[in-house]
Amino acid sequence: MEPTSIFLKALACSNKGRPPIWLMRQAGRYMPSYRALRSRFSFIDLCKTPELSAKVALLPLEELDVDAAILFSDILFVVEAAGADLHFDEQQGPLLSYEHAREEALPCLLQRLPQKLPLERLFFAKEAIALTKSRIEKPLIGFSGAPFTLLSYLIEGKTKKELPKTRRFMMRHPEVFKGLIDLFTSYVIDYLNMQVEAGVEAIQVFDSWAGILSPELFAEFCQPSLARICCAMRQAKVPLILFCRGTGSHLPALVRCQPAAISCDWTVELASALELLPKGVALQGNLDPTWLYAPLDRLRSKAASMCEQMKGCCGYIANLGHGVPPDAPYEAIAAFVDVVKSI
Ligand code: CP3
Repeated sequence: MEPTSIFLKALACSNKGRPPIWLMRQAGRYMPSYRALRSRFSFIDLCKTPELSAKVALLPLEELDVDAAILFSDILFVVEAAGADLHFDEQQGPLLSYEHAREEALPCLLQRLPQKLPLERLFFAKEAIALTKSRIEKPLIGFSGAPFTLLSYLIEGKTKKELPKTRRFMMRHPEVFKGLIDLFTSYVIDYLNMQVEAGVEAIQVFDSWAGILSPELFAEFCQPSLARICCAMRQAKVPLILFCRGTGSHLPALVRCQPAAISCDWTVELASALELLPKGVALQGNLDPTWLYAPLDRLRSKAASMCEQMKGCCGYIANLGHGVPPDAPYEAIAAFVDVVKSI
């Protein structure tokens, strides 16, 4: 059946009108209304109370009129459900601890983790999806972190850009590492299927950290798991958007995973990415969030020229190249959305 929303049409490469727009991290601290809620509730409470999660997810639709909602949650709750303790520190960001993920214990980690993800620990997301969905006409996007990104958070315990422990372990014990990636792949597929059952109409998978790997190591350690996840979502008949930081070096491998769409960061030009994509694969992105700090007239003409590059492309979704930064000026986000919607 032909989808009715322009977001789902673009994912099916059949959108003839203006490009749809939504933003990664579209509900967040750059919004005064979000900050007001955060002064009363912790981030974890916002995510784990379905009523609050739905309320936050709707803010960008109510205030900016973007073309899709995304479940308000975090990728790291899957790692928590697998057994880790999770905290969000105001200064340091997410902190995870799990005794079996200490560096010396890593070779035995595979035996310590549950063979199946205890999905009941994530039922709050299921309820949040049903509630959010019941309040909107527009599509709702579900999401998960990719196995490599989730595993690297478990191993590092926090945001650590160079991933030193992950790299050492991956190279010293490649077979154990691959076993762990396989296990996390099953976790992710189970979690995504749960979201699909609850009502999401599209999925985005975030491989935020895989961009640090060389194309060779990405092909060996990440690509097979991403391909398995894409295959599972094709079977579920839900379009999957694959996002990986450092798209520039991984685009051919991302294409081989056969997602419905690829979300690019700003390390590639959209026009050259388009040339690499097979027919029928949609493209999302990729305004560098740095532009959000430019004078509004410069930002507007940059956004317009980005859309101009994609003119006539029936499978284009406007977005940033990464999440909205917490300190982005609200007016800049509003201007970006308005430019795309006026095309
Ligand atoms: O996009 C959305 O609006 C949906 C919700 C969403 C959040 N995180 C909310 C959030 C999504 C899809 C994510 C994904 C996520 N979380 C990723 C992948 C995408 C990316 O950015 O690369 C990663 C790596 C995380 C882990 C995470 N969660 C970090 C590193 C942080 C701290 C950084 C920060 O901005 O504070 C979080 C916290 C977090 N997740 C916040 C939000 C709105 C901020 C919480 C707050 O203090 O209010």
